[in-house]
Amino acid sequence: MTAPQDPEVIKGCCAAAYGQDAVALLLGDSYHPGGQALSTRLAEALDLRPGQRVADIASGPGATARLLVGRFGVHVDGIELNPTIVGKARETTRVDGLSDSVRFHVGDAEGLPLPDNIFHAVVCECAFCTFPYKHTAAAELARVLQPGGRVGITDVTVHPDGLPSELAGLTAWVACIADARPLEDYAAILAGADLRTTHTQRHDEACEP
Ligand SMILES: C[S@@+](CC[C@H](N)C(=O)[O-])C[C@H]1O[C@@H](n2cnc3c(N)ncnc32)[C@H](O)[C@@H]1O
Repeated sequence: MTAPQDPEVIKGCCAAAYGQDAVALLLGDSYHPGGQALSTRLAEALDLRPGQRVADIASGPGATARLLVGRFGVHVDGIELNPTIVGKARETTRVDGLSDSVRFHVGDAEGLPLPDNIFHAVVCECAFCTFPYKHTAAAELARVLQPGGRVGITDVTVHPDGLPSELAGLTAWVACIADARPLEDYAAILAGADLRTTHTQRHDEACEP
């Protein structure tokens, strides 16, 4: 199987796949390796303070957004491409009584429906690797951040030689690995948007079955 070339097909397939009920059954609340424990470490590294504004890019069902509100007292705007997932995220958040502090928007990471310079921090978990236009997405993260703001990313990295060809197809793309990059590549892409990498951690155990 060869990798799909049309970026819109790639994005649509990824978003549609994560909208399936089976994904929630398989993955639970957090759609990324490491779950809420890793999200908490990410938030601690960002030094979040009560009242700050945070954007969660590709927010999925919203577990990270609710965690940030509940444990760190911030206000979160979640952006998610799949409207069905946004609907589920809003409903879960309403039931949890957190709708005053979390808003979910249907939108694309490569063209965020958010104003410039308003967030103290931006998080993006297990999604940057799926964006076909990573430089564009990085520029969008930088655009919505306040000067001095921080970006926190948890994501899949690969060996510099890349993936075996049998893992380069659509299934691998949806599973967040087909266009995953070595850590140095992510840092270079972010640097292209004036985002300096200050801190990295490996969590290989998060991907072990
Ligand atoms: C692996 S899930 C991670 C969801 C969430 N960040 C979490 O960790 O639970 C990837 C999510 O990214 C969304 N997504 C994919 N491409 C996107 C894009 N271009 N803009 C916004 N969301 C996107 C998918 O619909 C899916 O919900």
